[in-house]
Amino acid sequence: MAREVLKLHDLDFCSRPQLVCTSKYSYDNKDLAVAPYGDYWRKMRKICVVELFSTARIASFQSIREEEVSLLIESISSSLLVPVNLTEIVNSLTMNIICRVAFSKKNKPGDHKSSEFFRLFKEMQALLGSFFVADFFPLMGWVDKLTGLRARLERNFRELDAFYEEVIDEHIDPKRVRTRQDIVDVLLHVQDNSLDLTRAHIKAVLMDILTAGTETSSATIIWAMAELARNPSIRRRAQEEVRNAVGGSKECVKEGDLNRLRYVKSVVKETLRLHSPVPLLLLRESMRTCEVGGYQIEPKTRVYVNAWGIARDPKTWEKPEEFWPERFMDSSIDVLGQSFELIPFGSGRRVCPGLNLGMTTVELTLANLLHCFDWKLPNGIRTDDLDMDDAPGLKLLLPILGPAKLKKRKRITIQTPSRPKKASHNWKFAPTWFSLPPFPMAFVTEIWGLGAPPAWASSHPGRLLSGYGEADPQAT
Ligand code: HEM
Repeated sequence: MAREVLKLHDLDFCSRPQLVCTSKYSYDNKDLAVAPYGDYWRKMRKICVVELFSTARIASFQSIREEEVSLLIESISSSLLVPVNLTEIVNSLTMNIICRVAFSKKNKPGDHKSSEFFRLFKEMQALLGSFFVADFFPLMGWVDKLTGLRARLERNFRELDAFYEEVIDEHIDPKRVRTRQDIVDVLLHVQDNSLDLTRAHIKAVLMDILTAGTETSSATIIWAMAELARNPSIRRRAQEEVRNAVGGSKECVKEGDLNRLRYVKSVVKETLRLHSPVPLLLLRESMRTCEVGGYQIEPKTRVYVNAWGIARDPKTWEKPEEFWPERFMDSSIDVLGQSFELIPFGSGRRVCPGLNLGMTTVELTLANLLHCFDWKLPNGIRTDDLDMDDAPGLKLLLPILGPAKLKKRKRITIQTPSRPKKASHNWKFAPTWFSLPPFPMAFVTEIWGLGAPPAWASSHPGRLLSGYGEADPQAT
């Protein structure tokens, strides 16, 4: 069914719904990620693909990525015998890379402006993961005002806007010393060449790059490290590969070395299979009436694709719940959006344009963490103590990796707090429902990941599509 939605009916399902929060942060849909499909989106997508995410542009930022990763390695090495919080430092690594790529700024510890920007960014993520009543019941938007959510959104937006204004002003200042062309420079250049690009468009694209490009990559790196901490034999094999390919004398792995790391690449794919950072992709919206799996789908139906469930389907995957990178060693399945068994970056017209940038950052960081350090769990902590539960929401998924401790030279210990295991949030049985506002909804469609839908579902208004391509017409 995912193939039907994202490939056969790509053109019918390639729009995005207008939601309160994303419309605000995208300056009324002037960005790429949430702009509805149409001439504007096509123009913007072309600018982004050609100017911002081309192979040449991504290569031009290679030194930034390598420099930031080597700073990360240095900072871990210098914390000998001091606890290191892997989650925190990897989050700050991806943030620094994206901020330098986007507007040549980075987080300076202790700097008031940097910490203020981090605070604003965290607040934005919290708001993006919040439930706005108006998104489902437009006439009840007053509830969001009453709860104070709307005011929080306005405040955070205004503060971020002021930050972007300052960044753009700095970039157009003729006295500015420019070391390399960053994304703001490129967008200002495109603006000069007459495309109707206003400041609002530039700020909206910056919002996209920051929200889409930071936690997706850091979550993947942290999940990979958590899986490797639980699976020492896989970690040893990956480490052996990196160390043999790169050679003992080299301080750090460089991007030029990555093509020789087939097993590490399989580890990354397996991580994306089990822990897709965007488990339901980005919300799609149908643009016209069409038929999927024997059902008629009305225009403006919201569609979630359960990439998480697809990647764990026992009909497709042998030992689906097991972390087993070997499965990819001789497999033609990739993550580019062509193999519908694995679509962590989505597929079709809306496929993630930052795929190469994201994958390079993840592979480079992981290879270096494996090359430079030996990792093991501290005494007394068992692999079962690692909390591998996924958490729902746009806030993405992060395993809780507590402080890591350097035991001896180049030996890091990952320590997770041993706390009672909470009930796992299981996407498998989480129905993804999507409706057509304004309420009362004209139509409700449900697509299920795996497993049979519960009994109440058959009496639910609207139609039910179960499994992938196994629509049961009796269910209507
Ligand atoms: C591991 C890293 C990443 C993952 C797993 C990921 C995943 C995704 C997914 C699932 C989508 C939605 C695709 C769909 O609707 O079919 C998406 C869209 C998008 N991603 Fe990524 N992403 C990653 C990194 C990045 C980076 C580094 C950037 C930019 C700096 C980026 C920018 C975007 C943008 C702008 C869109 C919206 C595209 C559109 O609607 O036309 N992503 N990403």
